[in-house]
Amino acid sequence: MTKTLTQSQLLDAAQLLRDGKLVAFPTETVYGLGADATNDLAVAAIFEAKNRPSFNPLIVHLPDVAAAEAFVTFTDEARTLADAFWPGPMSLVLPLRGDAGLSDLVTAGLNTVAIRVPAHPLAQALLREVGLPIAAPSANPSGKISPTTAAHVLDGLSGRIAAVVDGGQCGVGLESSIFGGDPITLLRPGGISREAAEGALGRALAQGGGLAKPNAPGQLASHYAPDAGIRLNVEAKQDVAHLGFGTGTADLNLSPTGNLTEAAANLFSMLRKMDALTQAAGADHFTVAPIPQHGLGLAINDRLTRAAAPR
Ligand code: TXA
Ligand code: MG
Repeated sequence: MTKTLTQSQLLDAAQLLRDGKLVAFPTETVYGLGADATNDLAVAAIFEAKNRPSFNPLIVHLPDVAAAEAFVTFTDEARTLADAFWPGPMSLVLPLRGDAGLSDLVTAGLNTVAIRVPAHPLAQALLREVGLPIAAPSANPSGKISPTTAAHVLDGLSGRIAAVVDGGQCGVGLESSIFGGDPITLLRPGGISREAAEGALGRALAQGGGLAKPNAPGQLASHYAPDAGIRLNVEAKQDVAHLGFGTGTADLNLSPTGNLTEAAANLFSMLRKMDALTQAAGADHFTVAPIPQHGLGLAINDRLTRAAAPR
């Protein structure tokens, strides 16, 4: 049985993690499926619960930069991004320290590791309470849509994990942006826009946050996939369910006012609902309106392209 824990039960959640159990918890991006990153068996259990191909390295979650220093070395540019966007929806791939003590399963044998300092108050409180680095991929079965509520987590993983900490709906709704390398590049578009990162760095980032292009190792093209097929960039509703953006007739609308931040926050839960609507109608696909390719639109289009990829 998977327990649902509330804010007042964070001590229980921390104890489960210290005992090597799997605990899903909210971050401002999506819910993460957490395990003690120093415990091989606990990390292996993540892959088992998600049915995830084991070549995919995991993001390690820590409460602040000071805690991160024990595991990785920062380049100057990485520190600039950390100062600007942590805590927040950003991960940095950095060189692993020799004495870091992380499970090899977390890094998939690489000599780098992705680190994130999330801002969500429950994630912060849990990380400080547990006092361990917490490996956490998104808390969904491999290849399915990332969860932005505790109910989504239970939909996919109930009975397969010890507990989920319920923190309501995630505010950002898209995974973290991942930056890495020296000079730094954008490896995965996400909650921090390319423009915001360029502003902090004071230079342009090399183009490369390409759509449907697997950047970070192991990113599957059909990740985040609903069961229904999807047609993208469809201007107006036709004979199947339509996910809108901005004005116009639609069954659901990511943001009637055309606000990309609102669209990002709605994306994963609306993809789930569109999937259900499509199945209820006996149709084989739904359509999605064009999303502008700037700011958070880059990350939204990246996720949509993956969701629509043939599989
Ligand atoms: O918002 C998020 O980032 C969420 C929350 C829970 O923090 N986590 C998340 O994790 O999206 P996951 O496992 O679904 O995606 C992590 C991505 C994977 O594509 C993985 O390949 C990449 O990060 N990654 C991890 N370590 C890496 C490394 N050392 N080098 C390059 N890419 C790495
Ligand atoms: Mg994921």
